[in-house]
Amino acid sequence: MAQRINIGLIGLGTVGTGVARALLEKAHALEQRIGARVVLKRVCDRNPRPPRHLRLPAGLFTTDIRKILRDPEIQVVVELVGGVQPAKGFVIEAMRRGKHVVTANKALLAEEGKELFTAADRYGVDLYFEASVGGGIPIIKALREGLIANELNTIIGIVNGTSNYILTQMRDERLSFHEALLEAKHHGYAERNPSLDIEGHDAAHKLAILTLLGFGARVHVEDIHTEGISRISQADIQYAGEMGYCIKPLAVAKQVGHELEVRVHPALLSTSHLLANVNGVYNAVYVHGDLVGAQLFYGRGAGQNPAASSVLSDIADVARNVALGIAKRVPAYCPAPRRLRLRRMDRVETRYYMRFTVIDKPGVLAKIAGVLGRFRISIASVHQKERKTARIVPVVMMTHEAREADVRRALSVIDGMGVVKSKTVAIRTEAPRGK
Ligand code: HSE
Repeated sequence: MAQRINIGLIGLGTVGTGVARALLEKAHALEQRIGARVVLKRVCDRNPRPPRHLRLPAGLFTTDIRKILRDPEIQVVVELVGGVQPAKGFVIEAMRRGKHVVTANKALLAEEGKELFTAADRYGVDLYFEASVGGGIPIIKALREGLIANELNTIIGIVNGTSNYILTQMRDERLSFHEALLEAKHHGYAERNPSLDIEGHDAAHKLAILTLLGFGARVHVEDIHTEGISRISQADIQYAGEMGYCIKPLAVAKQVGHELEVRVHPALLSTSHLLANVNGVYNAVYVHGDLVGAQLFYGRGAGQNPAASSVLSDIADVARNVALGIAKRVPAYCPAPRRLRLRRMDRVETRYYMRFTVIDKPGVLAKIAGVLGRFRISIASVHQKERKTARIVPVVMMTHEAREADVRRALSVIDGMGVVKSKTVAIRTEAPRGK
């Protein structure tokens, strides 16, 4: 008879509910596939009323976390609480008691990963976290195992489903930012605190994890330049479209010389870019490695079932290990032989989309071009739009590669000019294939 592996699940939010349901419904199929019986022994949530539609078997549910952490029969704890505390305490305590841990908690891994990885080592247990990045895409497994022989030079991801959904709906359905955000919440894509999504922090957490796995580099989330999508307007989406670009919420980790650029921000992508057709809630991660070349991983990046798919994949891996009596076959991450310094953001070079709001009179364009030239910023193209308001026009420019520090200085001069009527919008452009 197949060995029984007992699971304790903490957190019955969107993902937890999906995982509990899938574990109950797929118990038989999983047993056939992995050769061990994965049994949901206990489910804990602080809300005393578990969702009724879940139909948990009697006696499974508890609000008392100790019934999971102190149950010697539970071998695997699945943490789906989210956020750093109290989740961190649960995870460390579970490991201290010799339990393997599966988590989807990107904030916890990104901010407290070091302590978690050390604890997993010390207590000789497995720590799996496939659902922390990319929803249902098996990108963690790909980086930890499939691409182990590669030196990566680029990871570019669309890793926040909510932001991608909002920008897609703003472009395709002409929804306002807030209408699109409401829809994303309704579908269960957004975090409990959606500013994590729209201000880029969720993507920064995920990028810290990808950078650790892909480059072996521990990057503090505070050191990742992070900009969200809340300042992207309908006008910029439309103007970018007219110029042959779309705007995507990107997470970029890229080796440039001996340095590593790590940044999260919306960017223009040419419509021929591999990531340009990743729309709606879909995520994608583009990776370039020395042996394998370019790879693109694509799939649903948020939502209950895609995340459940990844959590169950981790549970299957751990269950196989437990059944074989092994642990730590796959370490949380592999240290890299290379040491890359973090490139300061002001040294990063990209092309820029700029939208100036100026008075429509002779000489204005020349003044702006003059300031850009003084800061070594070369203009690639200029588009002046028809007047909308009396005497005020938008002027849209695309620059050649320019240094971040130069762009900031030039724009602060330009925005101080009397002919410039609103703060200039500047959005970076990501080159084809991340070059
Ligand atoms: N809020 C996240 C997103 C969910 O929108 O991508 C998956 O981590």
